[in-house]
Amino acid sequence: MTSNKCFLQVLKGKSTDRVPFWYMRQAGRYLPEYMERRKSAGSFLDLCFSPDFAVEVTLQPLRRYHMDAAILFSDILVVPQALGQHLEFRQGEGPVLTPVDTADKIDLLGMGNFHRHLAPVYETVNRLKIQIPQETALIGFAGAPWTVATYMIQGHGSPDQAVTRSMAFQQEAVFQKLIDLLIKATSEYLLKQIEKGAEVIQLFDTWAGNLPDDQFRKWVIEPTRQIILNIRQNHPDIPIIGFPKGAGCRYPEYIRATGVSAVSIDTTMPLEWVRDHIQPLCPVQGNLDPLLLVAGGDPLEKRVLEILDCLSGGAFIFNLGHGIVPQTPPENVARVSEIIREYQK
Ligand code: CP3
Repeated sequence: MTSNKCFLQVLKGKSTDRVPFWYMRQAGRYLPEYMERRKSAGSFLDLCFSPDFAVEVTLQPLRRYHMDAAILFSDILVVPQALGQHLEFRQGEGPVLTPVDTADKIDLLGMGNFHRHLAPVYETVNRLKIQIPQETALIGFAGAPWTVATYMIQGHGSPDQAVTRSMAFQQEAVFQKLIDLLIKATSEYLLKQIEKGAEVIQLFDTWAGNLPDDQFRKWVIEPTRQIILNIRQNHPDIPIIGFPKGAGCRYPEYIRATGVSAVSIDTTMPLEWVRDHIQPLCPVQGNLDPLLLVAGGDPLEKRVLEILDCLSGGAFIFNLGHGIVPQTPPENVARVSEIIREYQK
């Protein structure tokens, strides 16, 4: 089936007369209407598992900025929770999980209750498919196994993922077992999202950059390759965007070896290098620094134009290099959206 949605056209390598855009973490705490809804919803996880609320907050940023894509409102950590791991989001602290750091604890996880637990997320996708504007594409997502495993093993976020990197070295067979479970769970989770109406998938591998090259191949490339293979067996044409944040000069190897349709590039990637070494391989999405979106003014506008000038000659989707942060003024997001919409290729 062909679609004339601008975002999908670019992902299929077709030329378009304007640059499509969306922003990672486009729904969330920088929007007063999100904070208002969140007050009445209880915890963040209650919000993720209430289709009424999740649909509403997915649509909120579209009403303001008319992005070319909506991304399902959920979190990458609902997958470990659905596998049986305890998860909480504490105010000001981020996610807290009961660490799964031994073979015995990994053995207690399983898929017995997996799809039942995630049913409200599937219902959200189903409703969004009907409710989003017809020119907007719907993105489903999951965390990639490496990044999700870092939270599962350490029990919280960390700047260097030291506990998980150590486990991958010291107890490789045990770690592999967890990664294999995540490959299976993530593949099934994404297949369900596609069945319910997701038109594009994004795989978030936020902590891909902290691994040496052999480990990058083992824990980032190989699990991603397997998930993509599993998805493509049933849906050969679904666009899959990979985000191996921090992969640097390993982006081209990641693209060739995993079979992703497109990549999201992080803030550190030099634009000319992306144009010369990544864009010839696949469509590219990125990479404005989310902190420049906080700063605003001339430096922001200048950089948005630099990115557009350098990358809009090839297949390009404007996005950030990482997610929007809560202190972002909504009017800066409006200004950037206006510049992109008015930009003449
Ligand atoms: O708008 C969107 O992009 C869709 C929703 C989305 C959320 N999380 C909602 C969220 C997506 C795609 C994610 C992905 C996610 N979650 C990642 C990968 C991308 C990235 O940003 O690196 C990671 C590592 C997580 C795990 C996670 N969730 C952390 C570390 C935190 C705490 C930090 C923070 O920003 O609060 C979360 C919480 C979270 N996920 C919030 C939202 C809207 C904030 C919760 C709140 O309202 O208090």
